[in-house]
Amino acid sequence: MTPKKILFTGAAGRVGQLLRPLLRARYAVRLCDLNDVGPLEPGEEFLQGNLADPAFAREAVAGTTGVVHLAGLVSPSVSFEDTLDPNYRAVLSLLEACRALSVKRFVFASSHHIVGLHRPGPLTEQATVLPDGFYGLSKAFGEAACALYAQRFGIGSLVIRIGNADPQMSDGRRERMWISGRDLTQLIGIGLEHEPLDYEIVYGVSQCPDAIFPNEVATRLGYRPEDRAADHHAPNFRPMSALTPADGSDRVGGFFAVKELPPPDIRT
Ligand SMILES: NC(=O)c1ccc[n+]([C@@H]2O[C@H](COP(=O)([O-])OP(=O)(O)OC[C@H]3O[C@@H](n4cnc5c(N)ncnc54)[C@H](O)[C@@H]3O)[C@@H](O)[C@H]2O)c1
Repeated sequence: MTPKKILFTGAAGRVGQLLRPLLRARYAVRLCDLNDVGPLEPGEEFLQGNLADPAFAREAVAGTTGVVHLAGLVSPSVSFEDTLDPNYRAVLSLLEACRALSVKRFVFASSHHIVGLHRPGPLTEQATVLPDGFYGLSKAFGEAACALYAQRFGIGSLVIRIGNADPQMSDGRRERMWISGRDLTQLIGIGLEHEPLDYEIVYGVSQCPDAIFPNEVATRLGYRPEDRAADHHAPNFRPMSALTPADGSDRVGGFFAVKELPPPDIRT
């Protein structure tokens, strides 16, 4: 059977590079990014461009059966203006292309920074949105846009609020919200294939000690994480006890929650 063809945005990024071999093992993949992704492997094709351009987004979505949208601007101190193209217009351009081309699945890489100002106790998917900066704020827009297109246009959407997806995590806060590439791929598979799917928000975490996100909705959808965070410490790993409030240790969002924010210029 010919594998489904998916659009995979943000393929040149950190998480994109991690997931690329795992996704091409399951799907035919159209990689997409502003930046080059290097040599292609069998089962891959590549489209380079800016997804904030609706015509380019439509070209990227055409001929696929689902979108895995990782592309975006990620930074603790990003300005509101800088997020407008990558984190607002690109999401909307892609969802609109899905509507126009009747593509019915959308997996959106959101972030734990959407709840970054909460204290790091266990948080469910119902926790109040409490972004820790303009990056987290832009993810709130992306999630809401997915909900709109799911309800109005039947585009089944899975929002994955990623904790930390580094191959090895550097400290105890990230250890409480880490996800492996393999487990993230399992969640993406749920987003592309689970029936039925309307609009769901999940946190993506592997087996983490004292997990901040208990994975309740993901478990209901069939997610069974295989990897243990404790087996993936970076060599310079700093335990929770070594972190201080100056590192943002008392907030879900860590140092993102204590970084100074540039004042927005809302006229542009
Ligand atoms: N890395 C993590 O642990 C983590 C944690 C939480 C959420 N996430 C989410 O996962 C996604 C990927 O994160 P990452 O760490 O790989 O980020 P990254 O910055 O390494 O990669 C993002 C990629 O998106 C591309 N991109 C940005 N704007 C684009 C546009 N307009 N058109 C086309 N491509 C564009 C960039 O060129 C880049 O290659 C992001 O959406 C991020 O919010 C990541």
